[in-house]
Amino acid sequence: MSDCPQEPEPNSSISRRAFLRAGAAAAGACYAAALGYPVYEYLATAAHKAEAEGAQKEVVLNDIDKLPIPSALMFKFGGRPALLIRHGESSWTALSAVCTHLGCTVQFSPEKNQIFCACHGGIYDPATGANVSGPPPKPLSPYRVVVDQGKAVISRA
Ligand code: FES
Repeated sequence: MSDCPQEPEPNSSISRRAFLRAGAAAAGACYAAALGYPVYEYLATAAHKAEAEGAQKEVVLNDIDKLPIPSALMFKFGGRPALLIRHGESSWTALSAVCTHLGCTVQFSPEKNQIFCACHGGIYDPATGANVSGPPPKPLSPYRVVVDQGKAVISRA
């Protein structure tokens, strides 16, 4: 028989408690990561888009001499929609296609010779981008267009 009575090891309950605390902390960290990652992804994407918009200096569009008169070609400038509008044989306009009201993408109507926003009925002048009617508070932002031999070079105005 042993002289020492069996006593509970004092450290075993502490280590079990510590283990449970560590497990709870790890679960909390996973929960926080699961909540925080989508927020991080959203903000990182927005920052990346803003950087891409500022970084792009020009867009080159080929074979634009094949566009009918009048018509428009939708393209992206810095990740945002834009319109190249052909008014005549050598008459061109490039405008942002982001409505200045709430940011919907506008479209060109050759039948009515106008740019319209289907979201709330905003109308713009296709030659200047001026807001003509409806809720848009400002004109569409213009781009500079240089056309040579069927190729358009579009840059910030
Ligand atoms: S978003 Fe274009 S008119 Fe409202």
